[in-house]
Order: sequence, then structure tokens, then C-alpha cells
Amino acid sequence: MRRRFQPSGPLRGSSRPPGDKSISHRAALLAAMGEGTTRVDYYLDAADSRSTLAAVAAIGARVEAPPPGPHSMFVAIRGVGLRGAGEAAIDVGNAGTLLRLLPGWLAGQDAGTWTLDGDASIRRRPVDRIAEPLRLMGAGVECRDGRLPPLRVEAAPLRGISYELPVASAQVKSCLLLAGLLAEGETQVVEPAPTRDHTELMLAAAGAEVSRDGRAVSVRPVERLEPGRIFVPGDFSSAAFLLVATLIVPGSAMAFVDVGLNPTRTGLLGILERMGAQLEVEPEGEAGGEPLGIVRARHSALAGTEIGGEEVPRAIDELPLVALAACFAEGTTVIRDAGELRRKESDRIATVAEALRALGGDVEPTEDGLVVTGRGGLRGGEIDSRGDHRIAMLGAIAGVASEDGATVEGFEAVEVSYRGFEHVLRAHLGER
Ligand code: S3P
Repeated sequence: MRRRFQPSGPLRGSSRPPGDKSISHRAALLAAMGEGTTRVDYYLDAADSRSTLAAVAAIGARVEAPPPGPHSMFVAIRGVGLRGAGEAAIDVGNAGTLLRLLPGWLAGQDAGTWTLDGDASIRRRPVDRIAEPLRLMGAGVECRDGRLPPLRVEAAPLRGISYELPVASAQVKSCLLLAGLLAEGETQVVEPAPTRDHTELMLAAAGAEVSRDGRAVSVRPVERLEPGRIFVPGDFSSAAFLLVATLIVPGSAMAFVDVGLNPTRTGLLGILERMGAQLEVEPEGEAGGEPLGIVRARHSALAGTEIGGEEVPRAIDELPLVALAACFAEGTTVIRDAGELRRKESDRIATVAEALRALGGDVEPTEDGLVVTGRGGLRGGEIDSRGDHRIAMLGAIAGVASEDGATVEGFEAVEVSYRGFEHVLRAHLGER
């Protein structure tokens, strides 16, 4: 599907972003692992999070969800209990988080075999990062060419391990913590840099024994999980698109309400502030241990900056937007230590460089990041999403902020995380 985004006037108004994708996946999984019925408020209604609902239903959980509608919904999930997962062939679609988290739970069942497979993009994404530590725990896991999906998991008795993650990955950490609930003894995961801690927070709220000591997170086996009712904050990563649009379209001012403000996710705010963005954050308490609040933004003159080290995992999904903002800034922006971008829904070092160059940006891909020379704006042109939802939305935002507009080929990819994105964007746009 091709969509055209004309140069546009200021963005105005306020918006509640869709339910957080990472938290929605975890809510469905923990609800399925739990006892009784868990209500999830503002569960993300998008292709990725629907894949997780279908997966837990295939395993035996009873899922009550409305037909596809606006981007967030109320669901009820009756769990099968920690040891009650039934055998199934699971299609994860495009959802890397489902692909990496679910095997942790399945591996520790008393008996059973499961296969996990997905779309063409999923088949290029490495799963050896979970297969290796799960095997150390005693699990039976096989994958194609030793590192790619499809993945086959066979239940086996698990033992707790202490594992140092070779890459900062919340997905791998979460997989091992879920396996640890069913393992003998304690399971400890040591992170090279802090990554999103939604799994730890939700497990603790459901009654699991989770503790943190510096870079190490530990979990002990439990008999049962009781997630109760889960409230999903608005997705910071989805809000980030309109937020950056607000900064780069002259005259714009927007507020984002009910946005998840977990500090392991909001690295973008610090990066943008360094670039000169006018942002205001108003904390409004928390839900299930997850902080949330209002973020206000207005159009700002931006300058280049440098991003690397521990900031990277806290902004990993927003780095394409940092590169876009950098095209509108004065001076050079350097993103480094972000080789993980190559392992996302697309090789985002390549696809971001390709898209922004097609629109007139001065963007150089490097081994582990991007170098962007800001020219105070973009000309416009035509890009291809390469099947990646975040590249499709990046193209739309670039288009409305550009001189000539942008055409986005493969725009349907937005369905993965933000159904109705185009409608929401257009609803806030003014005349130029
Ligand atoms: C996610 C973790 C991140 C992120 C992805 C979602 C999660 O991936 O890029 O979009 O929900 O745990 P890694 O943990 O592989 O870095």
C-alpha cells in the first residue's frame, strides 16, 4: 500500500498513544501463565499483540477480546496456570518479543513440544541468543542453522543458572526470567547495560520473587502467578513519532497523555533535550509499578548530538527518529554502539539510511550506527518501509515535515504496532 504525506502545517492537540506493545505482550503471557481471569485495560490492538493473544489461545488460555477496532482495547484472559501450557504450532507473525519470551515459559513445562515460526522478517532474526542460555538451563531447543526460526522447544526439567547477557536485550533477559519461574533454584541474569524492566515489574506485581542487585536480576521458582488486573500505559515508542513531528514542524505544540515513562524506555527525551528540544514532562503516578504521565512538546530549533553507551538500549526503538530529528538539526549527530539496530524488524541501520537519503538527508551508515549531517530540513521524495512498521511511520513524519512531501511504499506495515496511525496523524495536522 502506497500513501502520500504532503508537507503540512503545525501539529496541535493532545493524544493518548496506543497501549504499550512491550507491556501488552507481557500482560498476555503472564495472564496465560496465571490462575483465574486477568483483565487487561488498554491492551494494544495491533498485529503484534494480536499474535500474542492467538499464541496464548493456541496454548489453551481463554481469550476474550473485541473485534479489531481503534488501537487499544479491553481484554480478559483466563490462564492455564504456570504448568498448564498445551502443545501447539505457534505463528508469531512479525512479533520478535513473542518469539523470544514465550519459549522461556514453554521450556519448563512438564511435557510437550512446540514450534514457533513467523513471517519473512522473523525468519531473519536470531534466536540463538535465547536457545543457548535455555540449553544451559537444561531445555530442549532447536533452531534452523543453529540460530534462526523456526524454533522447536521440547519441555524438560530446568535448573537455575547465572547468565551474563552478551548483548543488552530485554527479550533475552525476560525469556530467562520466565524460564526461571519453573527452574530448580535461583536464576540470575546479568545485563551489560540496563534494558526495559517491564517483565520484572509485572512478575513482582503477580507475586513472583524478583530481586535486583546492580546489573543482576534474579528470580526464584513460584507455585502460581496472580496478575490480577493489568493497566497498560500508552506506548512511549509510538508517541515518539508525533512527538518528533511536533519538534520539526514549525508552529506545532502537542501533549501526549497517559504515556509510559519507565526510565528504561525514555532515553529519547534526554537525547532530544540535548539537541535543544522544548519538552515538559509531568509525572502522574504509576500503574503496576510502571510510571506514567504527560509529555508536552513544541517546535524547537535543534542541534546535533552524540549518542552511545548505556543510552542506546534506553532509546533503541527510537533511534530512527533521532536520525530524522538530526536531519532537521544544525550540525552533526553521531549514533554509535547501536549494532543491535541491524537485528530489528529490518536492518535499521541500512533501512533508516536508505529512507532518509531518499528524502534528501545526508546520512552515513556505519558498522554500529549512523552519522547524520543536519541541513535544517529534508526535501522529500519516495521511500519503501521494507516491511518495517517504524520505517513506515518515520516516512510519514518525514513527509509532513519536508518541503515536497513523501510517498511511503509498504505503508501497511504500521499495522504491526499502531493501527490508525495515519488517521491520528492527519487529525492533528494543520494547513501549511
Ligand atoms: C523489546 C525489547 C527490545 C526492543 C523491542 C521490544 C521487548 O529488543 O527493541 O522492540 O519488548 O522486550 P531487545 O530486547 O532484543 O533489544
